[in-house]
Amino acid sequence: MYVCLCNAVSDKAIKKSIAEGATTMRELYAEHCVGNQCGKCCKDVKGILNEELLKL
Ligand code: FES
Repeated sequence: MYVCLCNAVSDKAIKKSIAEGATTMRELYAEHCVGNQCGKCCKDVKGILNEELLKL
């Protein structure tokens, strides 16, 4: 499922980046540009980040 429609970034891609070491929104932005256009995905991406970090 796409979490960022503007940049066609899926939740899988976000989770993969976190599994590979991303721990901040800044890192996810640098890798995927999430939130750089309409910004509507930021809340959802942050939610995924928090959930995945709790699993580590
Ligand atoms: Fe991510 Fe628009 S949905 S910037």
